[in-house]
Amino acid sequence: MSNKIKWGVLGGGGDSLIGILHRIAASMFDAYQLTGGVFNPDVTISLDFAKEIGIPTDRIHANLDEIIAAELALPEKERIQVFSVLTPNFLHFPMAKQLLEAGFHVICEKPMTMTYDEALELQSIQQKNKNIFALTHTYTGYPMVRQMKEMIANGEIGAIQKVDVQYYQGWINPIIHDKDQRSSTWRLNPKKSGISCCMGDIGVHAYQMLEFVTGKKIKSILADLNHLYEDNQMDIDGTILLRLDEYVKGVLRASQIATGEENNFTVAVYGKKASLKWEQENPNYLYLLEEEKPLQVLKPGHSYNSALSLDGTKLPPGHPEGIFDAMGNIYKGVAKAIRGEQFNEGEFPGMQDGVRGMNFIEKAIQSHHDGNAWVTL
Ligand SMILES: NC(=O)c1ccc[n+]([C@@H]2O[C@H](COP(=O)([O-])OP(=O)(O)OC[C@H]3O[C@@H](n4cnc5c(N)ncnc54)[C@H](O)[C@@H]3O)[C@@H](O)[C@H]2O)c1
Repeated sequence: MSNKIKWGVLGGGGDSLIGILHRIAASMFDAYQLTGGVFNPDVTISLDFAKEIGIPTDRIHANLDEIIAAELALPEKERIQVFSVLTPNFLHFPMAKQLLEAGFHVICEKPMTMTYDEALELQSIQQKNKNIFALTHTYTGYPMVRQMKEMIANGEIGAIQKVDVQYYQGWINPIIHDKDQRSSTWRLNPKKSGISCCMGDIGVHAYQMLEFVTGKKIKSILADLNHLYEDNQMDIDGTILLRLDEYVKGVLRASQIATGEENNFTVAVYGKKASLKWEQENPNYLYLLEEEKPLQVLKPGHSYNSALSLDGTKLPPGHPEGIFDAMGNIYKGVAKAIRGEQFNEGEFPGMQDGVRGMNFIEKAIQSHHDGNAWVTL
């Protein structure tokens, strides 16, 4: 019998954006075997999709209750070990909760839940049963993001004195100006998306990235959000001032109406000695800025990189690796955790990131509604 980790998938069907990213990522290091799932609320669509991607249909089910019951009825060594939750946001919490309570490991898409209270509840369940829980803030899987984190931790840029993170997209621009479309897109529906669109979808990536690379916690924020139309309840743009410490401040900018922007996600951390900048659209370059020295561009796969960064590079330098590889690195870390092997905590984000992220989203909305007031996280 194969010793691959038996993997189930909820959502992520042929009609989804993110399913293909997870399937390729999970297959990248030959660690997972896609064993079953519920790819779509309509079981015939799920079955057709299973046939299309060439996996057996006997462990494809109509809903989560059925798949959990069927898997628990199997001997433990045959059971699915970990499920990825790739559905729209409102299903993350009930699915992850049920899975953790039934004893499965969980890989969950962000935002982790719909509310901060749900995040705390999930955390307390996981703290009790100690199952692995990973949250796919994909971008932390890039080798040069990992390198940035390690260089900052090693003091290579000195004390941090300014942070700047930006995630600009333009995809909602054509939707938001069309009344029918803006009322039918799930990301703009608070029942499916949660209380925030922009901060919940991409602002939370930016927030998590900043805490990931700096190793510091953001302590308070002041948010100024934009909804653009009165009949749209959801933020689609915003600027947030950040305080990490009395003398460490910065800004988080996120937008889905930055017309023409694709996934312009950048993070810059300015230190007393030097600074580091990274751009998602050119993910294999890490820029090191120093006074009176030419700009240095660090690249993956070279021996000057840290072990954490090198663990995420598969090919010799100069072979571009991208978003699939970043997610692949996260799945690789989760596989180590499931198998009880040693891993670096920077290999995959988890419950703590989800709890902090949900707090950030709620506090950003609160700050805006309170008239752009400072709020403590
Ligand atoms: N990590 C990232 O960078 C990243 C990028 C994009 C999306 N996401 C997240 O991934 C999630 C999914 O986003 P998407 O863009 O793929 O959404 P999508 O709307 O394209 O796809 C959702 C999928 O879930 C399925 N689904 C819906 N209800 C279901 C149910 N009850 N049971 C089983 N399947 C069901 C749909 O059939 C579809 O296959 C979101 O939470 C989103 O925030 C994360």
